Amino acid sequence: MMKNIMIMAPLFTFLLLFTLPCLISSNIISIRRNISITAFEKIPLPPKVTTTGGFTFDLFNKGPYIGVLDGRILKYNKIRRTFEDFAYTSPDRTSAFCDGTTNFNKLQICGFPAGLSPDPITGKIYVTDSSLGLDIVGNFGGLATNLVPSKDGVPYHTLNDLYAAINRKVYFVDASSIYNLRDINTSILTGDSTGKLLEYDSRTKVVVELLTGLGAPAGVASDSVASSIFVSEYAARRIQKYYKKGDKAGNSEVILSGLGNPFHITRIKGEDDFWVPINNVVNETYANTQAVKFNIDGQILAILDLTREFSQLVTTVYQQGNELYVTGLNTGYLGKYMLVYS
Ligand SMILES: *[C@@H]1O[C@H](CO)[C@@H](O)[C@H](O)[C@H]1NC(C)=O
Ligand SMILES: *[C@@H]1O[C@H](CO)[C@@H](O)[C@H](O)[C@H]1NC(C)=O
Ligand SMILES: *[C@@H]1O[C@H](CO)[C@@H](O)[C@H](O)[C@H]1NC(C)=O
Repeated sequence: MMKNIMIMAPLFTFLLLFTLPCLISSNIISIRRNISITAFEKIPLPPKVTTTGGFTFDLFNKGPYIGVLDGRILKYNKIRRTFEDFAYTSPDRTSAFCDGTTNFNKLQICGFPAGLSPDPITGKIYVTDSSLGLDIVGNFGGLATNLVPSKDGVPYHTLNDLYAAINRKVYFVDASSIYNLRDINTSILTGDSTGKLLEYDSRTKVVVELLTGLGAPAGVASDSVASSIFVSEYAARRIQKYYKKGDKAGNSEVILSGLGNPFHITRIKGEDDFWVPINNVVNETYANTQAVKFNIDGQILAILDLTREFSQLVTTVYQQGNELYVTGLNTGYLGKYMLVYS
């Protein structure tokens, strides 16, 4: 499954720095109903293709859409039961040069769609490409339209998750202000905490910085009315809440800590509860992984162990009705569970 040394060397270094066993000990509240998972299924990606972490359904519950390391965004065809080409982020991308590649030296040419999020009004899909900027893709896919360009670290180095909120703003994170994706191992090794939470206004096209000094931010989402933004920091192992409205507007506070390493945050449709994957690395090839459900106050509502099915870094946990979709990093399949309530 994990075959390319070029990508795996930096990724393992990234992981290895966090080998202390770390369990969530705080914030567990009485759970009204127990949630468990069953009926695990692997939905395969095309041969040689592995995941980046970008994952979403669209507004019409079509898809899912998934970002892959060779720069494509694939869409699931429910009738043919297979992932098919949908979109790509780089105008320079060619199938011959890029299809199936996991070579980080080709990022600027092939693209790296790290985050996907549908516009809650138009249904178009916003994409963060780690090294090419913020893009948007129309309903028919194809080449994405670039909205905020980025190249060779200017203005951004390693874009990760994003969230298109109801206030017509798009929240996204830059993991480091110094290191590009291929050097993210160095970022972690040096204790770099220069990550940022950013806000793109789709009407004025202006980007503003909401938070700086973050430890490898990897995930972002807002609540249903865009009054607060939640950002997860992979290296700092915590989740912060940034207030957009109310008395605390413009301020932020840590609402969850003592976690393992969190990744993308997804809001459950029609709710103000969220899922985040939590990774606790054991060694080079093995991590304990969990899906954690939390609310806007940072209270934990459920912890599901995923380790039996995912012993590699988990990037996204996404709930669609009673189904829970899970993507790992550099993984050749999408995982799907059924949720059971008791
Ligand atoms: C939830 O699970 C725990 C541990 O298995 C059990 O003690 C508790 O009674 C369960 N609660 C409900 C509401 O089923
Ligand atoms: C970190 O990544 C860089 C670039 O990918 C690589 O040259 C270097 O060997 C890596 N360092 C370690 C310790 O793996
Ligand atoms: C990593 O840990 C797993 C689980 O404890 C173990 O099965 C595996 O042998 C270990 N691998 C290495 C390379 O130490």
